[in-house]
Amino acid sequence: MEWTEVSQVPQKKRFQAIKGTRDLLPPETELWNRVETTAREVFGTFGFGEIRPPIFEPTELFARAVGGDTDIVSKEMYSFEDRDDTSVSLRPEATASVCRAYIEHNMHAWTQPVKLYYIGPMFRRERPQKGRYRQFYQIGAEVLETLQQGQGGPKDLAKDAAVDAEVIEMVRTFFARLELQSVQLEINSIGHSAPVVDGKSVCRRAYVEKLKAALIEVKDQLGEDSQRRIDTNPLRVLDSKLEHEQPIIERLPRISDHLCDDCRKNFMEVKRQLDLRGVPYKENWRLVRGLDYYMRTTFEITARGLGSQNAVCGGGRYDGLVELLGGQATKGIGFAIGEDRLILSLQEAKKGGVAAGRDVYVAWMGEKAQETAIKAAQALREAGLRVELPPVELKFGKALGQADKVGAKFALILGEDELASGQWTVKTLADGTQEKMAAGEVVEFVKRKRPEKRNSGRVKQ
Ligand code: HAM
Repeated sequence: MEWTEVSQVPQKKRFQAIKGTRDLLPPETELWNRVETTAREVFGTFGFGEIRPPIFEPTELFARAVGGDTDIVSKEMYSFEDRDDTSVSLRPEATASVCRAYIEHNMHAWTQPVKLYYIGPMFRRERPQKGRYRQFYQIGAEVLETLQQGQGGPKDLAKDAAVDAEVIEMVRTFFARLELQSVQLEINSIGHSAPVVDGKSVCRRAYVEKLKAALIEVKDQLGEDSQRRIDTNPLRVLDSKLEHEQPIIERLPRISDHLCDDCRKNFMEVKRQLDLRGVPYKENWRLVRGLDYYMRTTFEITARGLGSQNAVCGGGRYDGLVELLGGQATKGIGFAIGEDRLILSLQEAKKGGVAAGRDVYVAWMGEKAQETAIKAAQALREAGLRVELPPVELKFGKALGQADKVGAKFALILGEDELASGQWTVKTLADGTQEKMAAGEVVEFVKRKRPEKRNSGRVKQ
């Protein structure tokens, strides 16, 4: 592709962000930062460290991990040929990358389990709507543990359940810290794919066979997508939102009636562990998730004010994925939170307040006052206050007008009088009161009187 000559670009052409992508702007970005800082703090208290994998990876990695028949891989990836003819894709999710990195950096030799979190953009070519974008952000975490000799017995099922419950508890703690409203956790166990023994299949394999047979019987009543899924991925039919399919789906066989002993015990233990942690949940036998790597525990969390795209977090267990990608037998459990949706929900519930504006506007008058104003601004910023210093002298009235516009709480007035007496004037803009004080007292005064209240986070500056 040739670059267009600058002279060929029509003069009035206005570029716009690509459909499904958007600019995040201040003051809303303050809320994004607050959410991410809180995630780092909370995840840190659970012993997680940050991983920053690349934004693009070999297409093959996602096809293998997420599944070639899933919507994400078959329809939604942004893939392109690199110059050496290999196919690469913008990451649609990060679990595959974390597992790839786990193998690449021999993390099986690290102290187990390895607990990692990530924050960053993901890319899926979905139909954009409220809460659904083509570039969106996830805050996710994964716990990986390579099996040592002798591991994998019944004791491990209880241990896995406790790990699952703690991961879910961590998300809940994070959401509670943010005061996210109407949070609902749904859980399920989708069993495990045991090998066929003596021509007999058990657990998920046996269930999927039953489900498929039941779906074939009602095929004519199903929509086009579900009909196709009978062959490609029958479990995904359970995910259907089509109204006319709901009563049909309700009558289908349920996985809970087909779990093998180990999976059933494990699921009971997951629920007991959630109870121990005071985490409320609802069971949902239709929760199968849209990625192929899951086994046993799956979960989703919804929150208020999101309309049809109300899943704010999804996750589950994926023992075997690391092995599938060429590593050793390793257990895995994790989740990803849709940060865009989390922010939307906080804003809807008026919990998205950010401290917009400035603390102090330095209104200086007279050439001599500029030097004092610069020093004052330096000292105030040093103390962590947000300061606006006009680059040129403004008339008193104009300066106060500007202070108001940028949302300043106080105006520090530095004119001839203040310079001569060493007594500076601080005006509280909310009520118009003024006080004189020594230069060294301003920081303390502003910090003490600064209102703590945050605004809605949607206010334009
Ligand atoms: P997922 O369910 O595909 O799981 O995505 C997790 C969350 O990302 C969703 O619940 C949703 O909040 C958000 N999300 C997904 N697609 C979009 C979109 N187009 N626009 C806005 N938000 C979106 C995963 O990605 C798994 N990797 C989670 C996981 C980690 N499982 C185990 N470890």
